[in-house]
Amino acid sequence: MKKIITLCFWLLTTVLLHAQSNKEAAMHQFVSKLMSKMTLQEKLGQLNLPASSDFVTGQVSSSDIASKVLAGKVGGVFNIRSVSKIKELQQVAVTQSRLGIPLLFGMDVIHGYRTIFPIPLGMSATWDMSLIERAARIAANEASSDGIMWTFSPMVDLTRDPRWGRSSEGNGEDAFLSSAIAKAMVHGYQGDDLSKNNTIMSCVKHYALYGAAEGGRDYNTTDMSRIRMYNEYFPPYKAAVDAGVGSVMVSFNEIDGVPASGNKWLVDDVLRKQWKFNGFVVSDYTGIPEMMNHGVGDFKTVNQKSLNAGVDMDMVGEGFLTTLAQSMKEGLVTQAQIDKACERILEAKYKLGLFEDPYKYCDEKRSQAEVFKAANRAEARTIASQSFVLLKNKNVLPISSGKKIALVGPLATAKENMTGTWSVGADNTQSITLLNGLTKAVGTQGKVVYAKGSNLEDDIELEKRATMFGKEILRDQKTAEQMIQEALAASAEADVIVAALGEGAEMSGESASRSNIDLPEAQKRLLKALVATGKPVALVLFTGRPLTLAWEDANVPAILNVWFAGSEAGDAIADVLLGKVNPSGKLTMTFPQNIGQVPLYYNHKNTGRPLGKWFSKFQSNYLDVSNEALYPFGFGLSYTQFSYGELKLSATQLKGNQKLWASIEVKNTGTMAGKEVVQLYIRDIVGSVTRPVQELKGFEKIELQPGETKKVSFEITPELLKFYNSDLKYDWESGDFDIMIGSSSKEVKSLKVNWIK
Ligand code: BGC
Repeated sequence: MKKIITLCFWLLTTVLLHAQSNKEAAMHQFVSKLMSKMTLQEKLGQLNLPASSDFVTGQVSSSDIASKVLAGKVGGVFNIRSVSKIKELQQVAVTQSRLGIPLLFGMDVIHGYRTIFPIPLGMSATWDMSLIERAARIAANEASSDGIMWTFSPMVDLTRDPRWGRSSEGNGEDAFLSSAIAKAMVHGYQGDDLSKNNTIMSCVKHYALYGAAEGGRDYNTTDMSRIRMYNEYFPPYKAAVDAGVGSVMVSFNEIDGVPASGNKWLVDDVLRKQWKFNGFVVSDYTGIPEMMNHGVGDFKTVNQKSLNAGVDMDMVGEGFLTTLAQSMKEGLVTQAQIDKACERILEAKYKLGLFEDPYKYCDEKRSQAEVFKAANRAEARTIASQSFVLLKNKNVLPISSGKKIALVGPLATAKENMTGTWSVGADNTQSITLLNGLTKAVGTQGKVVYAKGSNLEDDIELEKRATMFGKEILRDQKTAEQMIQEALAASAEADVIVAALGEGAEMSGESASRSNIDLPEAQKRLLKALVATGKPVALVLFTGRPLTLAWEDANVPAILNVWFAGSEAGDAIADVLLGKVNPSGKLTMTFPQNIGQVPLYYNHKNTGRPLGKWFSKFQSNYLDVSNEALYPFGFGLSYTQFSYGELKLSATQLKGNQKLWASIEVKNTGTMAGKEVVQLYIRDIVGSVTRPVQELKGFEKIELQPGETKKVSFEITPELLKFYNSDLKYDWESGDFDIMIGSSSKEVKSLKVNWIK
């Protein structure tokens, strides 16, 4: 019987592999036949990716971009938000250009297309891979109904610096978690078959190390050892490649003194040779010409360097189109290199099925039926409520029914801000604000009174910079004192105050670095006045990054971090404030006590003079602040309580490829059903190179009814113990390991095992 099953399995695999290689052969044949008809200029045209101009439907075919398309000078276009415009431009490519090669249409579909989910940092706080995959699936379905077949997502730049505005776009500070998210998102977008009309090609970005920009200043230099790159920063990009991502975007920053857009080691050696990536590589927006500012050559040189490094497509720079023919004549690049880049882009178009039907993503009926449909919005509301992190709660939340609520703060009505950074496809007029959501949810049983209470910032110039991209929070002309008085008047009759404060959506995201990550002064003043009333106050914190909240933690009785939760934010926040949903998010990035502690992250090394809890002379610490985080990685409260039983191991002495089981019982000891993220950490105590004090190696999100107990078990194999040593060899080493399970990186139970090869 066993033999028959093995034989059937072998036959099936052989048939599938055969079909696969037939498909690939057909693709190669098609592409090489097409390329044999192409001129050098037409090949270079495929490498060119301009941004969309602001054209009006009906005028697309007479636009400047259309004339380039017609001349075969464009391979793809991005960020056009309309199926009719996309169709019109595709028609120019297919019916009027010499070879009729269809265009790729891309977009920054980062956390949803029209139905917007929480910003990625918020999504990561769900620790729920099926929800994350589901959100990407919905985004792909909506985008592909609207003409888009390529998204510049996921962004997996690991970061330990909350000053960096783009912290909001990534998955936080941990490589293991971010790798799982990368995989879920690539699957969500691409599905199991890229040629379907409801899947889209994913592009992992920004390769690489962009999140390590010095000083947290955007686009800045990065510099780190290779061992750190391989162990800590590279894994999420590699996970996306292993999951079959179709394209990779290189980053703006330099690595080892060479900008990523022209870094041959990074693109050719690591990505293509070591990781076997076989899709195409695109630059970031004008990333190639920006190499001139980095100081590595003139326009022609930087383009030639970029192609030589292995970049295939030039986003917005137009230098591949205009300089590579000359560089080829001078022998600085070869025909074979240009051919290879063109081939990779044509192959992507082939895989998407564009040669069979260039309009397959342009079905207006489908667009009307699928985009922003009620079912998607309902899922977005559920997902949003799973991303919130309860940071503190001293008997304020949930707010019981029938209460009078004073809702105060500039973020409570800031409709356009709900979708956060990078929501290109959103219709912000449709977003649900907290005032809308809460008023609706409270209904006639209670009462919600609103007052703005403060502007976003005191400083007008700073406020302008923080809202200049269109997500305005209308500035009130009243004085700060008048606004506070209004808030206090609104609070006078209330049983509870909900303070909707934090960052505006554009205070995080690209080019939004901050050197001070406190709550803006105007809002903090308001918060102090609210707390001084002595009434229960719940701070609903809008933010795209960790903030420094030492005063808030010490003085405000409840803090619910809601990030920027998307188009359904207001309803989702109301669900949690009123206890319809029990919060279950956990932080994926450390919240420091103050900015001077940055970079502060849970999986640090030990040093020769380890961190103690309190100051001690000649140890690694600060005179003026402890080494502890305010809120550590993995932390998040619930309306119920969970108690962890004894940690149990299946063995304490292991050999070779044996498996270890680590398990623990978790009990809901409170009175409400709730979800808990159970986390597994491992410490490799002695290594040929120093190892972090703990590393996340597993997690499981469970749901428990009041009084219910569940056993959570993690399977641990030597695979989980592997790391890159000083020869960049990936392996594990014999020795002792601490196995830890708990509710956050700081709340763990620990046991030791010995594992030898
Ligand atoms: C960003 C990318 C984005 C691209 C296209 C760049 O400025 O760095 O993340 O995908 O623009 O919009």
